[in-house]
Amino acid sequence: SWGPGGRVSRRLFIVGAFAGAAALPVVATGPASASAGARRRVLRAHPASVSLGSRTVRTWAYDGLVPGPQIQARAGETVAVRLVNDLPAPTTVHWHGIRLAFPMDGAPGFSQPATRPGHTFDYVFTVPDPGTYFYHSHVGTQPDRGLYGPLIVADPHEPLRYDEEFTVVLDDWLDGVKGTPDDALRRLNSSPGHDDTLRSTALGGVSAEMRHPYYLVNGRTPGAPVTFRSGAGRLVRFRVINAAADSAFRVAIGGHRMTVTHADGFPCRPVTVDTFIIGMGERYDVVVRLDSGAFPLVAVAEGKRGRAFAVVRTSPGARTPAKGAKVPQLNGRMLKYQDLEARRVDNLPRPSRTITVTLGMRPSGNEWTMNGKVAGDHLRLRVDEGETVRLALHNTSPMWHPMHLHGHTFQLRLANGHGPRKDTVNIKPRERLHLDLLADNPGEWMFHCHNLYHQEQGMMGAIGYG
Ligand code: C2O
Ligand code: CU
Repeated sequence: SWGPGGRVSRRLFIVGAFAGAAALPVVATGPASASAGARRRVLRAHPASVSLGSRTVRTWAYDGLVPGPQIQARAGETVAVRLVNDLPAPTTVHWHGIRLAFPMDGAPGFSQPATRPGHTFDYVFTVPDPGTYFYHSHVGTQPDRGLYGPLIVADPHEPLRYDEEFTVVLDDWLDGVKGTPDDALRRLNSSPGHDDTLRSTALGGVSAEMRHPYYLVNGRTPGAPVTFRSGAGRLVRFRVINAAADSAFRVAIGGHRMTVTHADGFPCRPVTVDTFIIGMGERYDVVVRLDSGAFPLVAVAEGKRGRAFAVVRTSPGARTPAKGAKVPQLNGRMLKYQDLEARRVDNLPRPSRTITVTLGMRPSGNEWTMNGKVAGDHLRLRVDEGETVRLALHNTSPMWHPMHLHGHTFQLRLANGHGPRKDTVNIKPRERLHLDLLADNPGEWMFHCHNLYHQEQGMMGAIGYG
């Protein structure tokens, strides 16, 4: 009785039959050396008191942790996670960025009904591509309560050389600051006046309350920051994940330049920059040769006041940088999508047609649209299995929209013709971007803005085939 549905049980049976009883699982957790670890993992979602370092909040979390535990696997392995729902509400787990089989996508109303309180759901899927991913609830504003965690898929043939790695998860913490994320959403939906805020803010926040959250690195406020300890001269890989609901971040490390090696888990031609902007749902991997000392790692919430903060320390005696430390790199050379190039092998076949998707805002300012449609009567794009289609995205609204597609990586089509493979792309006001998509994974896949509040206020569509 593993799964709530026959479909799931059958899948498990198949996995079991192939793998044999001893070899079944596959989820290793903890440090990067994920190899053996032949065991199933249970992920329990439940109300918990969580320390953010400088204060403790009462919230919802996986295994009592924010972020949730790092789930670690190797490319090609099967991951088996049993969700135990001990929340007072239905929930799911979505495996953001993973090209998995549709029934395991954790998309409520699309791939499964949300799992009811007191019930379990067994997620079993193969992770085909190495890279930096994350998982989160896909029900309402739940991720904004802390229901998210990193998912790292190691490359058994890792071509990148580095000495060690750290995962850096960014968040804008609202729950426990001024009401819950649900309260915030209710306020947004009941106050048409807030569109003035929207219009005057080209970036970021959607309400006054949400402009002053705590900004977190790995669940810690700037007042009690996490320290990444390494050694001078070491080449360190940082896997940066933006799990925030409503904030894009500008990231820099004091005294260092960063070489971007991966975008949304996929390798790109290395490009060295001082800073990069990471939208909600995006991931960047960077490698940095560390100097001797203690350095601020900062993530400034774009268009807002406030920053997330951590310390990178290679010398035990060095003075700890202040959370407000000046970081000139923030104003240095910034990564642009145009800088990112997929490796040639990652280029997709030429698209057979173009589908236009217009991202808009209804005049009330409370609804976000895709081709004029909102969630409930959402945009449904049909494509043919096996075809490559071009999505021409046009943002006609005054806000950024980090658009995310489930179950695929698309290729950004840039002037150079070799844009990066990604699954989330931050599209600026009035900007147009082209994505090429190979329809090779049948399902009814969510395609939506990863600003949680835009998603919940309409900006949710789907691409289906098969
Ligand atoms: Cu990370 Cu549909 O989401
Ligand atoms: Cu949006």
